[in-house]
Formats: sequence, structure tokens, C-alpha cells
Amino acid sequence: MPIKTGTTAEAGIPTIDRDTCIACGRCVSVCSSETLLLEDGRVLVDYESSLGCVGCAQCAAVCPTNSITVTGRGLRPDDLLPVPPACERATAEHLDALLLRRRSVRCFTGEPVSTADIDRVLTMATRAPMGLPPSDVGVVVFQGRERVQELAEDCVRVMEGWLKWARPPLLKLARPFIGKAFYESATTFMVPALRLIVEKRRAGEDWLLYDAPAALLFHLSPYADPADSTIAATYAMLAAESLGLGTCMIGTVGYLVGYTKALKAKYGVPVANKPGLILLLGHPAVEYQRALRRRFASVTDSHNREHPHAIQAT
Ligand SMILES: Cc1cc2nc3c(=O)[nH]c(=O)nc-3n(C[C@H](O)[C@H](O)[C@H](O)COP(=O)(O)O)c2cc1C
Repeated sequence: MPIKTGTTAEAGIPTIDRDTCIACGRCVSVCSSETLLLEDGRVLVDYESSLGCVGCAQCAAVCPTNSITVTGRGLRPDDLLPVPPACERATAEHLDALLLRRRSVRCFTGEPVSTADIDRVLTMATRAPMGLPPSDVGVVVFQGRERVQELAEDCVRVMEGWLKWARPPLLKLARPFIGKAFYESATTFMVPALRLIVEKRRAGEDWLLYDAPAALLFHLSPYADPADSTIAATYAMLAAESLGLGTCMIGTVGYLVGYTKALKAKYGVPVANKPGLILLLGHPAVEYQRALRRRFASVTDSHNREHPHAIQAT
């Protein structure tokens, strides 16, 4: 049975060109749904395989004689692109330089982010892997400071409503139900941060979306792996960095939009979808003179011993 997602209920359909197929079996070895089989020197398509073709198109991508096409599950005939040559691949040094240079930018010049840059960022972010193809991630583009500010104002209004309930005695009462970690996060971070954002906004300062000239809100269908939208947002962040843009991920907005049907409707997020991160984009008004070394909370091996990486990093 085909795997249902938010956008499709059909299986992919691999088609083999028998005239050119050399039955090398590469397609079979990369097929993760047992849709392709090698039998008696021929590649066969099992249209009744238990998961159905998921439409990853790995088979067509590895075929040395270009003998496979895959249709269905949103795939288009021109979706197979040439693989960029290895010499164009970012080196580890280049990638690490990009990663080390990146900081969360909260000070932007007034310069708008061009449509071409947003388009480039989105195109690069579509390269992100997903739990299951086709992508169930949607993006709402807020282009221009006014659009971003409208969202900030909408969110702050929701925050004001929430803060009426988030009083210390009520939070204490709720503690057995919300758990220790959530209670401690709420009292030490979430509630004070929301109060600060509201106060600042009413004083004319945007401490939620930092007067950014553009923002991308990632949301995903209930069928998708919950990590998908975060991975897409991360790819978009790195893509924007590669274009010289500054970025900042914002977690708060997703919760605010997610729990407010009117905001979902206003911004075109399907009612069943879960908003995730928002990614701010803009031209940085700050230049960092130093990068920062960071460490994971723990790195252990499978015997629960400290991994050499963790020892080196201390
Ligand atoms: C999932 C996630 C959510 C975040 N949410 C916010 C946010 O709501 N507001 C904010 O100012 N920064 C937010 N940030 C940015 C972090 O605060 C920032 O990454 C962290 O302070 C480290 O700084 P750096 O990114 O400059 O290295 C978020 C980052 C992540 C990864």
C-alpha cells in the first residue's frame, strides 16, 4: 500500500527502458522499499510491494544508462538534475568556515532582502532530506519589514493573552501536570521572556523579530517526521549565510501561530499543520570579530564511556 503523506496517497511508478537497461542491479541495491528486484538477469518492478515506491528516485539517479524514470508522488520529468562535479563541492574547510562565521543576527540594516535571494535560499533549502518524500514542509514567506512587523504585532497580542494565565500561583498549581523541566523553563525563561518582548513592543522596540526585513515560517503536515521542518529551516539558514545574509532562528512564533487558529488561517498555514521555526533574514548590521568554540552536552560511545571527541574538547 502506498505511504500516505499530506500531499499524496499514490505510489511512485518506476519505468524501466528495457532497450537500454543492462541489469547491473545498482537500482535494486539502492531501492529501500523492495519495489525493484533483480530476477533472472532482469530488473523487475513490484507494483504491489508492501510500502510501494516512495518516489525517492535513487534508482534513476544511480542508473548508468539513464534507463529509469519515476513518476507519481509529485515527481516531474525534469526533476532529475546533473550532479555538480566533485571539484565544486564545498570543502570541509569552506563548510567549517561558514559554520564558524555564523551567529544569530539580531541587528539588521534597513536594506530589503531581494526576491532573488529569497528564491535562492528556498531552492537550496529544498535540497534538505526529509523523513519521507515528497516533502510535507510548507513555507510562508514574509517579505518586507511591514509584513514581518504585522506578524510580530499579531504574536505579541497572543502573548498578552497567554501572560494573563501565566501567573506564578497558577504555574505552581500546574507543576505536577507540566513536569519539573517545563515548570523550570517556564518560570526562568519562557514567562520572563514573553513579558520582556511584550514590554519592549509596547515601548516601540521589536524584541521578537528584531525588525528583520524578511522571515520564513516553516510548517509541516501531521504525516511528516517532526524533524523535517527544522532540517529544512537549517538548510535555509546555511543557504542564506552562503549568500552573505544574516539569519536568526525564532522558536516562539511557531507555538504562538500553532495554538491560534485565526493566525494559521490569516497566514495560510493549513489547520492540521504544525508551525515550526521561523527564520529571520536580513543584511547584518554587525560584524563579528571572533568566533566561538562550542561543545555538545555529552559525547559517549555505545558503551556509555566518554568518546575521545569529548575528551579532546575539554
Ligand atoms: C530552535 C531554536 C530556537 C531559537 N529561538 C530563538 C528565539 O525565539 N529568539 C531569539 O532571539 N533567538 C532564538 N534562537 C537563537 C539562539 O538564541 C542562538 O542560536 C543562541 O543564542 C546561540 O547563538 P548563535 O546562534 O549566535 O551562536 C533560537 C535558536 C534555535 C536553534
